[in-house]
Parts: sequence; structure tokens; C-alpha cells
Amino acid sequence: MARTTGKPVSASIVERTEMVLPNDTNQLGNLLGGRLMHWIDIVAATAAMRHTNHVCVTASVDELQFHHAIRLGEVVVLKASVNRAFRTSLEIGVRVSKENLFTGERMHTNTAYLTFVAIDGNGRPIPAPPVRPVTAAEKRRYRDAARRREFRLQHRQRH
Ligand SMILES: CC(C)(COP(=O)(O)OP(=O)(O)OC[C@H]1O[C@@H](n2cnc3c(N)ncnc32)[C@H](O)[C@@H]1OP(=O)(O)O)[C@@H](O)C(=O)NCCC(=O)NCCS
Repeated sequence: MARTTGKPVSASIVERTEMVLPNDTNQLGNLLGGRLMHWIDIVAATAAMRHTNHVCVTASVDELQFHHAIRLGEVVVLKASVNRAFRTSLEIGVRVSKENLFTGERMHTNTAYLTFVAIDGNGRPIPAPPVRPVTAAEKRRYRDAARRREFRLQHRQRH
């Protein structure tokens, strides 16, 4: 059952738009995976900190797949939102799409899920405010986040 209290998802959504320039690409003119991961981490961290109003550190990044190359000159649109807060940790979802400015075509290229932990000045985890999902999509992501967290924590115990 989704919450009726807490901070709305809409209050901490972050969008970033980047044009892919030569320094962002490999020899084939494709966006470097590492550059995209950096942008994903930054938008996700910004959403986490906007939600908690505290410093948040990256605890884990779920599997990330690259289905479509993003080319030199294309525009990358990253949208991050807080899917759910647990106790001190939060799941942030980042949707990545690319846009061709000459044709106007947009394509979804990646979805990433990251876990951030809110910390105090001594680096100790502190409670994060609950998330209030409002739209149907937000409620679905809120529910699915619990399943993904279970998988993640099982995985964490094996190491
Ligand atoms: C992330 C960190 C703060 C967790 O600290 P910890 O002492 O392990 O704390 P806990 O075991 O109490 O875990 C705190 C929360 O993090 C979650 N967590 C810890 N490791 C996790 C992982 N690998 N994946 C998902 N969640 C994780 C726990 O489930 C817990 O969540 P909850 O409070 O919502 O239930 C600590 O490991 C750390 O500082 N890591 C380095 C972070 C970093 O440098 N990141 C890169 C730069 S930002």
C-alpha cells in the first residue's frame, strides 16, 4: 500500500540535458559508457539530496545495460526521481533517452537504479524522509523498489 504522507516524488525530480561532444566519445563517435555513468550518478545524487536535504553517498548501482549507442552530436536527456526511501537508504531511478536534434526523434536508451544513503557530518547513516508517490507510475515504481531492494540486500550478504 503506497504512503499518503512524506515528500512527493515531484519535489525532487532532476532533469539534465547534455550534448555529446568529441571529448565524450570513443574512436567510433559513440558516447563513452563511463561518461554516461558519471552523468547518471550526478543526477541521481542531486535527486537524493534534494529529497533528504542531506549529503547522500552512492551505496550501489544496479546492473546497467547499453542497448543503443548514443552518437556524437546527439542530445542525452537524463531524468532522475526518488522511487522510495527505506530507513536511511533511497532508491533513485534514472531514465536516459537520446534525441536527434535534426529529426526530433527520441529514443529511450537506459534505465538505471541507484541506492543512496543519507549521512551526517561523521559519515553515519541517518533516516531519510518517506516518499509520497502520487501518480500511477510513481506508485508502480514505489512498489517495485521494495522487490529490487530485497534482491540487492541478498546480493550484498554474499560479499
Ligand atoms: C553506504 C554506507 C554509508 C553504508 O554504511 P553502513 O555502515 O554499511 O550502514 P548500514 O549497514 O547501516 O546500511 C545503511 C543503509 O544502506 C543500505 N545499504 C548498504 N549497502 C548497500 C548496498 N550495497 N546496496 C544497497 N543498499 C545498501 C542498507 O540496506 C541500509 O539501508 P536502510 O537504512 O534503508 O535499511 C557506507 O558503506 C559507505 O560510506 N560507503 C562508501 C560510500 C561511497 O564512498 N560512495 C561513493 C562516493 S559517493
